[in-house]
Amino acid sequence: MPKYKITIDQKTCIGCGACASVCEEVFEMKEINGEYKAVAKKKESSSPCIKEAADTCPVQSIKLS
Ligand code: F3S
Repeated sequence: MPKYKITIDQKTCIGCGACASVCEEVFEMKEINGEYKAVAKKKESSSPCIKEAADTCPVQSIKLS
């Protein structure tokens, strides 16, 4: 699996937590200004679950490049 750079759009993330539940080694939830948002624990990853996390996000906030 190639290494992907992970970008999470904090503006569109609705904090549903799906990414963190399918791929907790890379995504975690943090409270930012009173709202829960996903943050990436790593800037880049080749973890097999990151694609599933990006596909799972209901608002397509996760970009892999
Ligand atoms: Fe946010 Fe999408 Fe994850 S809405 S919490 S980036 S699944």
